[in-house]
Amino acid sequence: MPRRKLVAGNWKMHGSLAANAALLNAVSAAASAGCDSAVCVPYPYLAQTQAALFGKAVAWGAQNLSQHAQGAFTGEVNAAMLVEFGCKYVIVGHSERRALYGESSELVAHKYEVAQQAGLVPILCLGETLEQREAGQTGAVVTEQLDAVLNRCGVASLDKAVIAYEPVWAIGTGRTATPEQAQETHALIRAHIAKLDAGVADRVQILYGGSVKANNAAELFAQTDIDGGLIGGASLVADDFSAIMRAGAAV
Ligand code: PGA
Repeated sequence: MPRRKLVAGNWKMHGSLAANAALLNAVSAAASAGCDSAVCVPYPYLAQTQAALFGKAVAWGAQNLSQHAQGAFTGEVNAAMLVEFGCKYVIVGHSERRALYGESSELVAHKYEVAQQAGLVPILCLGETLEQREAGQTGAVVTEQLDAVLNRCGVASLDKAVIAYEPVWAIGTGRTATPEQAQETHALIRAHIAKLDAGVADRVQILYGGSVKANNAAELFAQTDIDGGLIGGASLVADDFSAIMRAGAAV
């Protein structure tokens, strides 16, 4: 069975009640049966998103979660809370969280595990820095990040997860990986999984993220191992995100 495409927005720390209302309306109007779609929004906007998208074809999620179930963890949000607000997805291991908040691959794997235990679908982000790419370490870096999850949760867990390959040097920089560069790493990730389970490797959606725009989405999504995108900046612009969703449905 061919893999479905998924176009997921990552709003990061952007939004306002008024701007979100217009954006969510436009996104739900642009959804189609030909492509899975979702928006990952800041925590305070989950209730608004749930109300706007309930019963619509667009799923929603969060951008992070605590590894803890509950307790004295000031400022943290647990998986059960995300479930109460109807989240389907939660991003784990985004490079901004790894770099700015010191999240290790082990912590990311723990978050992935608790997300799945609560019934959420983790979107596991992997990606190398420019320095690592130039040192020829791309494969080693993404497999180390992935192995932390495989060691903790097993390969079968990927049947209930999504992977997003996001080269750090392409995020928010306008410098997209070429379709060939992205495809090469996607194929490497899939081959790494196939060593453990060919069926899982064949089924798992691997998204590309990093400066995906309306004018480059179709070319990226046409690559054999690219199953959609995790979209930052362009997910905040209704026309751009809608065009990227259409590109996902058209492939
Ligand atoms: P970008 O962000 O599309 O703005 O590059 C992607 C991401 O960080 O998920």
